[in-house]
Amino acid sequence: MTEILPIDPREPDPATIERAAAIIRVGGTVAFPTETVYGLGANATDPAAVARVFEAKGRDPSDPLIVHIARPEDLGTVAASVSPVGAALARAFWPGPLTLVVPKRPIIPDNATAGLPSVAVRCPSHPVAHALIVAVGVPVVAPSANAFTRTSATTAEHVREDLDERIDLILDGGPADAGIESTVVDVTAEPPRLLRPGAVSREEVEAVLAGLDPPRVLGGRGSGRTASPGQMLRHYAPRAPLTYLEGQGVSALAQACRGELDRGRRVGVLLTGEDVDAFAEFGDAIERRVLGSRSDTRAIARRLFAAIRSLDAAGVDAILVADFGDDDLGPAIRDRLRRASTR
Ligand code: TXA
Ligand code: MG
Repeated sequence: MTEILPIDPREPDPATIERAAAIIRVGGTVAFPTETVYGLGANATDPAAVARVFEAKGRDPSDPLIVHIARPEDLGTVAASVSPVGAALARAFWPGPLTLVVPKRPIIPDNATAGLPSVAVRCPSHPVAHALIVAVGVPVVAPSANAFTRTSATTAEHVREDLDERIDLILDGGPADAGIESTVVDVTAEPPRLLRPGAVSREEVEAVLAGLDPPRVLGGRGSGRTASPGQMLRHYAPRAPLTYLEGQGVSALAQACRGELDRGRRVGVLLTGEDVDAFAEFGDAIERRVLGSRSDTRAIARRLFAAIRSLDAAGVDAILVADFGDDDLGPAIRDRLRRASTR
């Protein structure tokens, strides 16, 4: 079994960090907590180490990785240039859950970026992630630490479920905070484009862009191969088929639930706190996971992936979920549910 080492998420023990860093320095792979989800780390300047990350995840080589840096100032070591918009976003959100796509320097090998001339970069705020990258001494690639196309890992146990024996070490710093991945913004484009909605809301990014001189408006995903490389539609897939009732509410969810039960299926539902009473009628006939209040999309995002994994573990045949609206992280949640429901 891949070893899991416990680590204090606020004050990580330096000896434990050094053990993990030593593995990465010699080309190995270590899963570690970040403020978004768990990442699978390797030396971002070593093509053989980068290849091990693709291998462990079973990840398609066309899906570029995110390079993690210890300090915002380190952006210049991996980026050939940074636009004023990129610099402003880094200043506003780093360290934190925003990823910037910038022109890449040759120090980052081509397999890390799937051959693209750009590189996605993030400076994480999690104390374990920060201490680890500092100790490694070079930038660290870290995709989400799940098997390719599966639900992202928000705990060390989730990492082990997917990657046991395939990676060298797992640092267990408890559940990841945001529970959903970073927001990816391409700042090589003008205006900048939102490639992946995530733990920083569109409104938060737009507020910074609106304050620039001249003000910018965030562009959409665009089209073509480079618009969102590797953002395959089928992603975050649980084992049980997930039905996402996009744009629909609790009554449609209850109706779908009855339909599945009539077909003799074991049903799991993802609910908001406000939905619980409407589902009382189902008693023990269904598995339910309550994510949080409808008005708190951050709480819903935090528990989403763990709840999907937990329904899978409970052995349901079908997972049903209604819409969580457009507020705050609602669009990021919608993006994940759309992908999770694509077969
Ligand atoms: O929160 C996160 O970002 C987590 C934690 C571990 O930091 N990492 C993560 O990595 O979600 P991953 O590999 O699961 O997602 C990276 C995504 C790719 O699917 C791709 O869409 C985008 O980032 N990306 C990476 N490099 C890119 C590039 N050069 N141009 C455009 N998009 C890129
Ligand atoms: Mg991922």
